[in-house]
Amino acid sequence: MYANSKSSATRPAITVPQLHAIKAKGEKIVMLTAYDASFAAQCDTAGVDAVLVGDSLGMVVQGHASTLPVSVDDMVYHTAAVARGVESALLIADMPFMSFRDADTALRNAGRLLAEGGAAMVKLEGAGYVLDVIGALARHAMPVCAHLGLTPQSVHKLGGYRVQGKSRDAAAQLVADARAVADAGADLLVLECVPAALAKRITLEIPIPTVGIGAGADCDGQVLVLYDMLGITPGKRPKFSKDFLAGRGSIGDAIRAYAEAVRNSSFPAAEHAF
Ligand code: KIV
Repeated sequence: MYANSKSSATRPAITVPQLHAIKAKGEKIVMLTAYDASFAAQCDTAGVDAVLVGDSLGMVVQGHASTLPVSVDDMVYHTAAVARGVESALLIADMPFMSFRDADTALRNAGRLLAEGGAAMVKLEGAGYVLDVIGALARHAMPVCAHLGLTPQSVHKLGGYRVQGKSRDAAAQLVADARAVADAGADLLVLECVPAALAKRITLEIPIPTVGIGAGADCDGQVLVLYDMLGITPGKRPKFSKDFLAGRGSIGDAIRAYAEAVRNSSFPAAEHAF
């Protein structure tokens, strides 16, 4: 009765403890975003370990200029759709702007993402007051992925989508924040757009796995926005991404190539890092 109900014949379901085991073994976590059942199934069958329903859907699906307009209802809708497409991959759902402004609000909204959406983990941006929220979620047995570095929900405060942690002080703050989110109870940490050397230092210093996006090859795993790595996001592709569909015949082949490149550390290359 309590066996993982969703697991394919070929691949057992990925669990939160398994993400820790992947770090302990020195292997790589392969993560991609997805926003619907069909793309989620492509990720799952290509061997992606974790599928993130990112609030990036506000930009790549809804066409907004930022992630700020995304609502909890939007996230529940897309998470439930993705849940219908995954068999084995761990399902992570982003908590949108203002949905975790205090512990009670976060517990209510994270509860919806797990119970209605079918997520196994929620992701939330920042440290500071967010540490209390992470603690509350962890105490209520809701696995948390923290997100530091470039936190897109803070775009106005940051003054744009810029690399973070470049000065000595900023780097020291990021290291302190990374330790603090792990101490607060996070099980995973996304590091977005930080210098590769800093991401490596954080990865070595904290006990939980790190997943980088624009954070160099030494994180415990990598994540990309699916539409970026398929080359279909309008406009200029971010420096840290790569078009894996170019020269390949199918979306499945592109995702398999990405998974292989992450696992053999050929992606990201130096040209994708800061
Ligand atoms: O919203 C998102 O897709 C994300 C990833 C870029 C990590 O947060």
